[in-house]
Amino acid sequence: MQCSWKAVVLLALASIAIQYTAIRTLTSKPFQLCTLPSPQNCGLGDQETEPPFERGAVGCEDYPTIYMNSSRKTHILVLATTRSGSSFVGQLLNQHQEFFYLFEPLYHVQTTLIPRLSHSHNTADRRVMLGASRDLLRSLYGCDLYFLESYIKPTPTNHTTDKLFRRGASRALCQQPVCDAFGPSDVNVEEGDCVKKCALLNMTLATEACREKRHVAIKIVRVPEIGDLRALLEDPRLNIKVIQLVRDPRGILSSRIETFRDTYRLWRIWRATGRKPYNLDLSQLTVVCEDYGNSVSTGLSHPYWLKGKYMLVRYEDLAKNPLQKTKEIYDYLGLPMDKNVEGWIHANTRGSNEPSAKHKFGTIRDSAANAESWRLKLSYDMVEYTQTVCQKVLHQLGYKVVRSVEELKNMSISLVRDKTFAPFL
Ligand SMILES: *[C@@H]1O[C@H](CO)[C@@H](O)[C@H](O)[C@H]1NC(C)=O
Ligand SMILES: *[C@@H]1O[C@H](CO)[C@@H](O)[C@H](O)[C@H]1NC(C)=O
Ligand SMILES: *[C@@H]1O[C@H](CO)[C@@H](O)[C@H](O)[C@H]1NC(C)=O
Ligand SMILES: *[C@@H]1O[C@H](CO)[C@@H](O)[C@H](O)[C@H]1NC(C)=O
Repeated sequence: MQCSWKAVVLLALASIAIQYTAIRTLTSKPFQLCTLPSPQNCGLGDQETEPPFERGAVGCEDYPTIYMNSSRKTHILVLATTRSGSSFVGQLLNQHQEFFYLFEPLYHVQTTLIPRLSHSHNTADRRVMLGASRDLLRSLYGCDLYFLESYIKPTPTNHTTDKLFRRGASRALCQQPVCDAFGPSDVNVEEGDCVKKCALLNMTLATEACREKRHVAIKIVRVPEIGDLRALLEDPRLNIKVIQLVRDPRGILSSRIETFRDTYRLWRIWRATGRKPYNLDLSQLTVVCEDYGNSVSTGLSHPYWLKGKYMLVRYEDLAKNPLQKTKEIYDYLGLPMDKNVEGWIHANTRGSNEPSAKHKFGTIRDSAANAESWRLKLSYDMVEYTQTVCQKVLHQLGYKVVRSVEELKNMSISLVRDKTFAPFL
């Protein structure tokens, strides 16, 4: 039994590896001169951390030349988990006129390489995913959007597709010259309108749009730990700045229960009946808190490879004081915040009369005022359970645990301690 089980795992793994190798082979570029002064430096980084079948593929000829404008691009990476307020943070970058922003391109890597497992916890799967993810991010920061096509299903023909995940969340992909449906005066195109009216996405035009922007910002929710990105962060051809977005895990849980209704069905049963179903998949919570705790520990321990590249942002702080916190983020990036960003904040946070977002994963619905509303939605025993499992990360991030229902439901006491997380400069 043991043996055949292993064989199945090995087979599955081999098929993923073959797919991935095929993708790399099909997309590998002709030899190009490296942008680095010395050729020995070309493949810096990945050798030690990549799975074995990727070894040897790390030479510089495998990477497209990273697009280098005379004034250096900043490559911004928002590292988050689902339902942690990352759409909100994404918008704070997306709204900037000089940014090219992409919303979770790793979605395509996951659906192609590991189609049946929406959140695989298998270590080997994870390594393949991560190797592929780093490669893709590297290419995207170089504005090579063709590289992404290998992961889009069905495969784009003539470099056009209507299947790019959340295309409408990228301003640059809904504007001229990429899309002609809206004029220059339509500053705030709704995601749904963009998808409806812009029709096919021409990846050549998207690539050009990326090159014309001063900076590239990418939001990801599919990389569990910041340490998994080390090889990317140390790549001397990139100029990466990480924003690690965190949120109270109790808030994340509550938001996921509302959003992912099928996956979190048993949690809703728990909430409705007051009894924990015996077959509840606890890993939906434990894995999150474990990864999260490790990732935050790494970030806050300030390893040398994060120097100048790391800032931790609590969603609750951003929600409480969006304008000031956004300024701090831009200060850390070393870039001026433009008036579009400021305008967007005013229109979409407290005091605004905007209708709420239509999209399921919309930004507005989950923004400022709602940061602590999970307290009214989760039952006390769910909260208590989460506090036990996520004890470490709650403490690290300065979220208070509650000891009674009264404390939980009394909204005049905040559960977010004042705590400053200065960027690691
Ligand atoms: C791709 O472009 C070629 C040449 O313009 C055309 O003949 C072909 O029909 C196009 N393919 C699709 C699927 O649109
Ligand atoms: C996509 O845009 C490029 C650049 O403008 C153009 O040459 C190409 O024909 C377009 N592709 C299609 C399928 O329209
Ligand atoms: C570099 O970026 C600037 C600012 O976006 C742009 O105007 C310029 O055309 C770019 N330079 C090159 C060589 O493409
Ligand atoms: C909520 O907490 C505040 C501050 O500790 C306290 O004054 C108030 O009585 C509490 N309200 C309720 C309903 O327990």
